[in-house]
Amino acid sequence: MREHELGEQHLAGAMALSRAANWNQNEADWRMMLRLGKGFGLSAADGSLIASIVVLPYGDQFAWMSMVLVSPQHRRRGYASRMLRRALGYLQARGLVAVLDATPAGHEVYVQEGLRDAWGFRRYSLAAARPVTGWQDVSGLKLRHLMPDDWPQILALDLPAFGASREALLRALAARLPEAALVVQRGERICGYLFGRDGREARQLGPLVAQDLPAAQALLSHVLASVAAPVYMDIVDHHTSLRSWVLLQGFTVQRPFTRMVYGAESAPGNNETVMLVAGPELG
Ligand SMILES: CC(C)(COP(=O)(O)OP(=O)(O)OC[C@H]1O[C@@H](n2cnc3c(N)ncnc32)[C@H](O)[C@@H]1OP(=O)(O)O)[C@@H](O)C(=O)NCCC(=O)NCCS
Repeated sequence: MREHELGEQHLAGAMALSRAANWNQNEADWRMMLRLGKGFGLSAADGSLIASIVVLPYGDQFAWMSMVLVSPQHRRRGYASRMLRRALGYLQARGLVAVLDATPAGHEVYVQEGLRDAWGFRRYSLAAARPVTGWQDVSGLKLRHLMPDDWPQILALDLPAFGASREALLRALAARLPEAALVVQRGERICGYLFGRDGREARQLGPLVAQDLPAAQALLSHVLASVAAPVYMDIVDHHTSLRSWVLLQGFTVQRPFTRMVYGAESAPGNNETVMLVAGPELG
């Protein structure tokens, strides 16, 4: 076994790992994460990639850890724990708190390495598009596509919501799926925004940051009428009204995730306004 950084030459192996776990990332996702952060891998003597982890630094306080994958035939041999310790060492050397979103299987690994639970979210999936119901624009909201002049307002709202600047990520997402890059205004001020991206199985919507439920519903009503299904979105658990409304639109719950943190008391950001996370691999 050889530990190494992940580069362009490992993309096929990385895709094989995420496909084997039935994850939604496509090659554009892997490229984006390796451009914005750093990947580590473990390869067998024949050169095949058998384990991965990615770290995505956001500002100078914390970093995301994601893409913890071990090929099915090499599981339960300590490789995920080894990759995790490698990434934690990298982040500790830089004084960064580590945050991640755990699947139930991953959670079992991470608690043993000292990560603690912060809060949860669930993935909702929509197999086929249908008209959105149960929402009427009675609140004077104006919905439109993102424009270049919107960035200062979006970044000012996103900083307290997410807990750090993720401008490079948001700009990359805006280019990935422009029809999902939307803002909603009340008067002259932006009160919510949404981004999305294509995926291997489905289009993923998120992040969605909004000041209230009608703003979130306006964004989702618009995007669900224009983006082709299947669609995934990861809704923060305590937004119960949004979760109920989404079930009425035909979404079903696919799986739970737990946000976990290492090196701090709590996870960064304010999930009062973060309604959809960007996804477990991005934060
Ligand atoms: C989760 C995953 C990364 C674990 O990889 P791994 O190399 O098998 O994990 P490790 O061998 O380091 O496990 C260390 C310990 O964690 C626990 N653990 C690991 N996988 C577990 C599982 N599926 N169920 C319950 N406990 C588990 C066990 O206590 C294990 O020790 P043991 O084998 O001596 O009992 C791997 O199963 C995988 O790729 N799953 C699909 C993708 C995924 O869910 N990744 C996590 C993303 S957050």
